[in-house]
Amino acid sequence: MRIDVITLFPGMLEGALQETILGRAQQAGLVEVHLHQLRDYATDKHRIVDDRPYGGGPGMVLKCEPLFAAVEDVRSKDPRPGKVVLMSPGGKVFRQAVAQEWSNQERLILISGHYEGLDERIIEHLVDEEVSIGDYVLTNGTVAAMVVIDAVVRLLPGVLGNGESAGSDSFSDGFLEGPQYTRPPEFRGWKVPEILLSGDHAKIAAWRQDCAVRKTARVRPDLKQAKT
Ligand code: ADE
Repeated sequence: MRIDVITLFPGMLEGALQETILGRAQQAGLVEVHLHQLRDYATDKHRIVDDRPYGGGPGMVLKCEPLFAAVEDVRSKDPRPGKVVLMSPGGKVFRQAVAQEWSNQERLILISGHYEGLDERIIEHLVDEEVSIGDYVLTNGTVAAMVVIDAVVRLLPGVLGNGESAGSDSFSDGFLEGPQYTRPPEFRGWKVPEILLSGDHAKIAAWRQDCAVRKTARVRPDLKQAKT
């Protein structure tokens, strides 16, 4: 898979992409991530990418020209077709099911939006999907792009090692994951539930499923309703 990110702040991603599972996935050739500075596509000598909104109002708006030029150039760097995704608090919410769907794509082109917004013609004529990572507003979409990359890349075949598995993740079956314990069996008087020490795998599986259902009902009733 190839992922391109168009952003004003590539430095926000550089370090994070080298760490742990994402860094290993790139070294193993399972994914390529390319960062592009939007300002490199500005046409004036001051490298300006935004302008005041027509009709007045506060803030600045990202201009069409640099973004269209950036996406067209980035697209031409690889023959694989790529979905163009705009990170924006105004988009549909990014969920595990979307991560799963996108992990089957050959290519993603992520645009990190501006604090104040962008020319609507970009959304209408350049972007395939507008996506939010949640109901809060970030200073820009770069961290949101990182969230999408992380959630998608860990689902690519071969990225998670033997000991790690995406199969029992929270959300993968519509329920939050239940509790986990490791040694010691007793810590400061708090004991690990006896059933986990029983060796009865069928009972343990049923207990875990029951915990997952109850936790989901308590913490995220909206998830449970969506699935049942
Ligand atoms: N940019 C600013 N806030 C955002 C959000 N919640 N999701 C995606 N991009 C954003």
